[in-house]
This record gives sequence, structure tokens and C-alpha cells, in this order.
Amino acid sequence: MGNPLLAKKSMEMMVGETEESGEHCLKRTLGAMSLMSLGVGAIIGAGIFVLTGAAAAQYAGPAIILSFVLAGIGCVFAGLCYAEFAAMIPLAGSAYTYAYATLGELFAWIIGWDLILEYAFGAATVASGWSGYFNSLLQDFGIHIPPELTATPGTQLVFYNDRWERLATVLTMLQARGMDSSSLPHATGSFNAIAFLAICLVTTVLVIGIKESARLNNAVVLIKVAIVLIFIGVASIFVLKNPGVATANWHPFIPPNTGAFGKFGLSGIARGAGVIFFAYIGFDAVSTAAQETRNPEKDMPVGILGSLVICTILYILVAGLLTGVVKYTALNVPDPVAVGVDAAGVGGVFHAVGHEIKISSFLVKAGAVAGLGSVMLVMLLGQSRVFYSMSRDGLLPRWAGRVHKRFRTPYISSVTVGIFVALFASLIPIGILGELVSIGTLLAFIIVCAGVWVLRITHPDLHRAFRTPWVPLVPILGIVVSGLMMLSLPRDTWLRLVVWLIIGLVIYFTYGRHHSRVGKLERGNKAASTLSQK
Ligand code: ALA
Repeated sequence: MGNPLLAKKSMEMMVGETEESGEHCLKRTLGAMSLMSLGVGAIIGAGIFVLTGAAAAQYAGPAIILSFVLAGIGCVFAGLCYAEFAAMIPLAGSAYTYAYATLGELFAWIIGWDLILEYAFGAATVASGWSGYFNSLLQDFGIHIPPELTATPGTQLVFYNDRWERLATVLTMLQARGMDSSSLPHATGSFNAIAFLAICLVTTVLVIGIKESARLNNAVVLIKVAIVLIFIGVASIFVLKNPGVATANWHPFIPPNTGAFGKFGLSGIARGAGVIFFAYIGFDAVSTAAQETRNPEKDMPVGILGSLVICTILYILVAGLLTGVVKYTALNVPDPVAVGVDAAGVGGVFHAVGHEIKISSFLVKAGAVAGLGSVMLVMLLGQSRVFYSMSRDGLLPRWAGRVHKRFRTPYISSVTVGIFVALFASLIPIGILGELVSIGTLLAFIIVCAGVWVLRITHPDLHRAFRTPWVPLVPILGIVVSGLMMLSLPRDTWLRLVVWLIIGLVIYFTYGRHHSRVGKLERGNKAASTLSQK
């Protein structure tokens, strides 16, 4: 009998769970296409629509393309490891479940707790970004929500050019125009009600059903991929027609380092990769739908790796074309893709409710609103599925795993998660949320990569429908690249991670450890063997 903290869930127990069916279980309805769509739904979001421009302008210049390649390669290593596990253990818990099988209960708990940072805080981050785009779209049509209800507490807002803007966003521009921001009407954010309502809406869709959620997601994914493709088309035509402009914009491809680490040059490419890593987060969320997949052995690897490859290609194209159409120095804006479409010459306007609206920025904003909606959907889906798994293992109370009889979704955990996430999104600044998401996700990647390696040693003969190539090289590279990206994050973020993990451990030692199904089984076996010895 080993250390109970390192007790592992046996492969037989896992296989038994994958074969369960009935009204208390999740429904297996998803195929490869839906999974890929879920992946693309989770991946394309605030990262490409918002962060690309700032990362090119501040860190990498046109070489932001290389940052995308670098971060993409790091994610492919982790993606290959996720694919092996998701095909082998098609249960809803993703990295949590894999850790339970390989590294033991304590690690499983830590990773499950850590995944909250990725999924719940991820959904909150995106909701916060979504509220910015949505509010901007409303203001284009002349609709103004009270500014205090559009931002997290303490955010400074000013009324400029007929709209409320965040002071931080417009300050440089105001200074460049010689304007004093204190002369403008101003307000202070108190509660981001738009982000709050967005999460409530997405939660409602999730409770109604996995099939309905996947259907809605498919439609939204089509819209956002269409917007990205339109940008690629328009920008390609511009580059082909104006090769001189594009060549000049791409020069110098790697702007020389300014003397500070991360400000252009090679270190700028690395810093850029750390920042735009956020754009790739989400492919792993596909694995949380494993228990709702018809043929996980075949479809899981296709869903995870397919969505990752599609997005990597789209991202590299967008980054390359964007920096060809607009000089990178002009890209430090909240809506770089809209600026790119404008510069490529799609400058038409239309009139609605007495307002003149630019077609290009309308399209991009509408695409972002729809697109970020699906990111929230998949993140929240992932979170409730991880809780479902943890509750079925006894590490969380039973109610967290209860499945609705009619909808067949873990409705209590979906609603509980929804309420917390809505509160995070409306109260915590987006910067803090985003960095927590990155550090949490990278830690999950490292544990999954390590898990694949460990399981190959401890259970070499298990049937693996998909095998990660070149083990242990690929897991080691996954661990190294993710580790380096974690190290590029600020100290405060590390501190928050440690505090978060400590809270998690307290919960584990006061609740989970005593209620764990695996633990009870082990204690039962121990008691039986003691009795038989007497
Ligand atoms: N990859 C997702 C996004 O960029 C999280 O919004």
C-alpha cells in the first residue's frame, strides 16, 4: 500500500467510466468536425483580434510572425501529448484525469485546481475583452450604457469624440494632440455589467445542452473564421498590388534591439511569443469534451491537433499580412485587424440610426463580438466538465457532478461556475486575469507532458490509439518551452499562482482527501488485508 496522496486511479477504473452510459451521464454526440470547431471556437479570440498589434509594435516588429511560429511550435508539443491522453482516457477531466492516472491524487487535485485558472479565469478574461468590443459597437450606433457599469472598479474613463473610452487607451493620443484629459468629462468604473451579463448568457446556453452549445458554436466559428479569411483576402490583394509598400513595411524584418531585453531583436521575438501565447490557448479545451465524443480514439487527436494547426496557419498569415499592410509602429491599437482592413483600402461607410459607421471596423468588431462569445462558451464548458470529473472522484462535493435529467449537462456546476466567473469578469482587471490564465495553462501543459512520459515508463503496454512521436523528446521540449514562457511572466503573477495553489491544498486536505473514491477504496483494501492477517 503506497502513500495515499500519490494514489493513482487505475486504468481499469478509467476504462469502466468511459463505458458508462445512462441518464446520469454525459451524452456522446460530438464528431471530429464539431471537435475541431470547438477548438477553433476556443482558440481564435482576443489574442489575435487585440494582442497581435501591440506585440508587433512593442516587442517584435514584423518578426511577430516568428513569435507566432515559436509559440505555435511550443503548443504543438503540448498538443501532441494532450492528443495521446485524450484518445486513451476519453473522460471529461482532461489534464486532471491524466494526472490522476499517472502522477497520483495530489497532483491530480493540484492540476484540477490549476485548470480553474485556465478555464474559469480564461472565460472571465475574454468576457472582459468582449465587453470592450461590444460597448464600442453599441457606441458606434449612439447607444451609451452608464460608463460606471462598463468597466472594473477603479478604471478611469473619459468622454471623448462622442464616446466613453478607457483613459489608458486614449491617453497617448490625447497627449499627442496637446489635450489635457482632465478637461474632459470623466467617470470611474464600478462594475462591468456587460461582462457579467455575457457570462450569464453563455452559461444559460451551456445548461441547455452540449449539442445545442456545439451547434451555436459551429455558427459562431464560421462567422469569425470568415472575418479572418476576409482580412487575409483583402490584405493579400493589397500586398500583391503594392509589393513596394509591403516590402518597405517588412523592413527591417527583425528591428534591432533597443538595449532592453524584449524590446525588438531576438529577445523581442521571445517576449512577443510569451505575449501572443494567449492567442493559442484553447486547443486543449477540446479534450474536456472527450466524454461527449462518439469515437474519441479517432476524433480526439483530429480535434485537438486539427484546430491547433488551422489556427497556427491563420495566425501566421494574419501576422505577416498585417505587418505588410501597416507599418508595425502604427499597430499599438486595441483593434489592429480593423486598422489593417482600413489600410488595405476597404474604406466604405454605411448609415444606421443617424450614425455613419465604417464598414471595415464594423465587420471586425462584429466578428470579434461573435468570436469572443464562442471562446467563453468553450472555456466554461471545459470548466464545468473538469468539476464534473472531480466531483465524480469524490474530490469535490457530489452536487458538482449532478447531471440534469432532461438536458444531460452538469447544470449545478455550470451555474455555480457561471456566477463566480461573472463576478471575476466584472470585478478584476483584464491584465491580472490574462496573466493568471497564461501561467495556469502553462503549468497544465507541463504536467500533461510529464504525464505522457511517466505513463510510457510505468504502463508501456497500454493500448494507445494515438502515440505522441519521439517520446521523451517531444514531452521534454513541451516542458522546456512552456517553462520558459512561464519564466517570462511577472513575479506578481507567480505569487498569485502560489497563493491560489495554497488555497487549493487547504481545500484538498480538509475535504477532498477524506472523500476521495480512490482513497476510500484504498482504505477498504487496507482494512480487509489487516482483518485477513488477524
Ligand atoms: N485563445 C483565446 C483568445 O485569444 C483564449 O481569446
